[in-house]
Amino acid sequence: MNKIPKHVGIIMDGNGRWAEERSMQRWQGHLAGAENIEPILYHAMNLGIEVLTVYALSLDNIKKRFDDEKQHLFNIFNSKLDYAKKEFHDKNIKLRFIGNLSYLPSDIRHKAKQVAQMTNNNGRGTFVMAMAYNGQDEIKRAVSEALKLGSDDFTKYMDSYDFSPVDLIIRTGVENPIITRLSDFLLWQSAYAEIYSTSIYWPDFTVAEFDLALEYYFESDRKYGAILSRKDWGGF
Ligand code: IPE
Ligand code: IPE
Ligand code: MG
Repeated sequence: MNKIPKHVGIIMDGNGRWAEERSMQRWQGHLAGAENIEPILYHAMNLGIEVLTVYALSLDNIKKRFDDEKQHLFNIFNSKLDYAKKEFHDKNIKLRFIGNLSYLPSDIRHKAKQVAQMTNNNGRGTFVMAMAYNGQDEIKRAVSEALKLGSDDFTKYMDSYDFSPVDLIIRTGVENPIITRLSDFLLWQSAYAEIYSTSIYWPDFTVAEFDLALEYYFESDRKYGAILSRKDWGGF
């Protein structure tokens, strides 16, 4: 039987190009992208995936993008968090946020904390939004916390300290389907993740595309550095 991954990460790329190709504004692509999360999330939870982490906004996006695009993104987050608070809670889904939330406007930060608290005991699965997130930044913050407290295990202080390792990363909107990149997403947690990429822009990524990614994942055979059988082994 196929082994459902425990933890899937999605790099939801291509919103801006999706909009530009339709002569729309980039923010309209972000709105379409935000609308596309829910069906994929429910599908993942129905399949028994325990954790779905989506890369919603990187710290680099916050530092390097134009203010008007960021303002639109923050407005979208704001209204989606209101929606998530009720809808995801009713569906028994736990919401978590990872990232350097101090870079977000205070209303979003406040709502994120509220939703995380409210849904903390939900048991159907965990939906993680990476906002103001970069993997290197998560590691640096955890290391400095560990040093401050005199601990020799910095992983305890990572935002994602209690998540299982990432089994599968899906990246949408790649320029070239052969070449892909992590763009500083879940660097530590993806050490042995399988990475699937597609040129389909995130707003067009469907449940069927998700299943296709899973099909490829099922075919992979992770050995974590080991050799499981040796054909040339004749014994001593
Ligand atoms: C990804 O879409 C989502 C965010 C970064 C918020 P992009 O905005 O990077 O879309 P493209 O890559 O320009 O098409
Ligand atoms: C990665 O996409 C970040 C998110 C999807 C939120 P980017 O568009 O920011 O990454 P690069 O610039 O293509 O590496
Ligand atoms: Mg992009």
